[in-house]
Amino acid sequence: MTHQFVLILDFGGQYNQLIARRVREHNVYCEVKSYKTPIEEIKALKPIGIIFTGGPNSVYDPASPQCDPEIFQLGVPVLGICYGCQLMALTLGGKVIAAQEDTAREFGKATTYYDTTCPLFKGLPAEGISWMSHNDYMAEVPAGFTLPAHTAMCSNAAIADVQRGFYGVQFHPEVNHTKNGSAMLRNFLYEICHAHGDWTMEDFKNSSIQSIRDKVGNGQVLLALSGGVDSSVAAALLAEAVGKQLTCVFVDHGLMRKDEGDEVEAAFARWDINFVRVDASARFLQRLAGVSDPETKRKIIGEEFIRVFEAEGKKIGQVDYLVQGTIYPDVIESGLGDAAVIKSHHNVGGLPDYVDFKEIIEPLRQLFKDEVRQLGRELALPDYLVKRQPFPGPGLAIRIIGDITEEKLAILRDADFIFRDEIAKAQLEDSMNQYFAVLTNMRSVGVQGDGRTYDYTLALRSVTTTDFMTADWARIPYEVLDKVSVRIVNEVEHVNRIVYDITSKPPATIEWE
Ligand code: XMP
Repeated sequence: MTHQFVLILDFGGQYNQLIARRVREHNVYCEVKSYKTPIEEIKALKPIGIIFTGGPNSVYDPASPQCDPEIFQLGVPVLGICYGCQLMALTLGGKVIAAQEDTAREFGKATTYYDTTCPLFKGLPAEGISWMSHNDYMAEVPAGFTLPAHTAMCSNAAIADVQRGFYGVQFHPEVNHTKNGSAMLRNFLYEICHAHGDWTMEDFKNSSIQSIRDKVGNGQVLLALSGGVDSSVAAALLAEAVGKQLTCVFVDHGLMRKDEGDEVEAAFARWDINFVRVDASARFLQRLAGVSDPETKRKIIGEEFIRVFEAEGKKIGQVDYLVQGTIYPDVIESGLGDAAVIKSHHNVGGLPDYVDFKEIIEPLRQLFKDEVRQLGRELALPDYLVKRQPFPGPGLAIRIIGDITEEKLAILRDADFIFRDEIAKAQLEDSMNQYFAVLTNMRSVGVQGDGRTYDYTLALRSVTTTDFMTADWARIPYEVLDKVSVRIVNEVEHVNRIVYDITSKPPATIEWE
């Protein structure tokens, strides 16, 4: 099935992914492509609308990214955001200049007044807050344009040529700070581009299953299942598509959270596939014995993983296709449309070098993380897999400071389980992006019952973040922290002190190792 297509031309804006996500939230398929995309390619994509992103440059700088003026001859509506708006104005004959200090230069929130007879603002309140971030100013707008929005500082917060379907906004409708911004994008899609809203997960699931079947034929497919969201959803999709031709290798390194291995296995029991769970915990623990250095731990785990996977892969004989759980943000970050530099990423990074196969299948390549979760639900995967927070490939090994033993693993598993349980009971799961316990290698004196103890200090870590590159510590209510602390010291032996990590990233990292 073919979907209507919206093209997002990227001019280097920091919110390009966000624009794409917003468009897809409105059930319209879109892709982000470089502003350098040749006009012939743009035509071939048959977009129903084009969005120009913001960008860090000034349009009047000759070295700044430009667009092919022919874009405006295609009869396709265009929405320019920030830099994109200024570029549209300049290309169509307007004039853009650097704003003078304190005049028309705006950063942050601004009260904005909208003309709701303009299709872009149809049905919305006439006044709202918008998120501005622009240095430059449209001194003259091109002929044929009206000015359907203004702020106290700026008479042309938006420009519109309703006849030709060209719209520009100086603010960022894609960020949450802009009130009704998402509705403005919706208006662009539905009122202006006449979208049908044909991008649904059910369609995507069905068309993906069909195209995987067409491609794979009678071939054998191999997938390394980590139990994370991406590999689980990819596995479910392949299971649905090719059943017995799929072998999922789930390497249980013994460094997973409480019951996690069994949960993953249980989730795939309903498909008739070759599900291989390799209990390799003994060999991982043996190789990790006495190792305290975090990078050495990672290296050992990575190497062992590949060895185990390779051995399982060889048992299958001829592997035709290897499945990877690459998702759209990885594609965008790796260089737009430049397939050559797509990184082989993930916990299973480097696998292609170790298994002989004909081709890689990346069935989630077009999807954002929230869409991957949606697809998982569509495939009836249980919530505990679909909603799973990110979990590092080396697992609990990097959450035990110092050397790893069975005893420490058991302590950490139980403590981490209690933390997650209380967060779930307090319904705080959706307010934080990653949360876990860390077993420090510090012991201190305590008193329990009538006796003196000398036991481990356990740290709790919880962060909020959008990209995991920076993060803030989550403001968990004291009462919840208290419950977690009381339960852990009572229920888990050898822990007599709990601390909560209140550092952001930077300067700290999310994990402790
Ligand atoms: P840091 O600790 O670097 O973590 O702030 C950022 C994100 O990356 C995850 N992480 C890892 N994931 N292998 C992984 O697959 C690793 O070795 C690893 N180290 C950190 C971390 O859990 C967080 O989501």
